[in-house]
Amino acid sequence: MTACANYPGGELPTNVHLLAQTPQLRALMTMIRDTNTNRNDFIFYSDRIIRLLVEEGLNYLPLVEQQIETPTGLPYHGVAFQGKICGVPIIRAGEAMEKGLRECCKGVRIGKILIQRNEETAQPELYYSKLPSDIAERYVLLLDPMLATGGSAIKAIEVLLETGVHEDRIVFLNLLAVPDGIDAVLARFPKLRIVTADVDPGLNEKKFIVPGLGDFGDRYFGSSH
Ligand code: PRP
Ligand code: URA
Repeated sequence: MTACANYPGGELPTNVHLLAQTPQLRALMTMIRDTNTNRNDFIFYSDRIIRLLVEEGLNYLPLVEQQIETPTGLPYHGVAFQGKICGVPIIRAGEAMEKGLRECCKGVRIGKILIQRNEETAQPELYYSKLPSDIAERYVLLLDPMLATGGSAIKAIEVLLETGVHEDRIVFLNLLAVPDGIDAVLARFPKLRIVTADVDPGLNEKKFIVPGLGDFGDRYFGSSH
């Protein structure tokens, strides 16, 4: 269990992993939360956090024992990644996380799911999905920076499950979550794993995370939808 002051009861559910709240991470989160941070800096510091999330997310994939030989001619008893993986960004904002995944996982397969929250109702609307044909055999790193009501993530996971992906093989990487969103997603998919960089207390009347960081997609891509 991970301690988390903003989660009711003070401890996160066992399958929610909060990045270690190091001085580095706290400074990076402060940069991207700051409304005065310009777009270049927002991208730069978000990318650094995304890299940490990807590295942590990869720790939840299975390993097999592997013995190799080092240049000294001696054996080394190590490990290797076992399963095949696939990254699935929820477009648009999730695409900001694709580069960080590619930097860690050479040649990784990428699927895409396009979901947009309706700006009036905050309800998620599914427009498009394109996934590798063998995705059911893969571990999936689902990418979306914001977990607010949880509606978008739930819709994306429904699409993944419909194509045969195993619920317990999905790791959802996320920069900022709120307790209600976490609870909503885990109530539907209790075997899902979530890796997040920070947890805020809740949502405002427009279903934006508060204090939050605003609209991630608009700030990262420099456009409004
Ligand atoms: C944002 C974000 C998530 C969603 C989270 O996307 O990237 O997908 O909202 O909110 P929820 O948990 O309440 O569903 P948005 O629909 O604003 O589109 P964008 O990716 O184009 O920014
Ligand atoms: N999407 C965002 O980009 N920000 C929020 O606070 C909530 C949803």
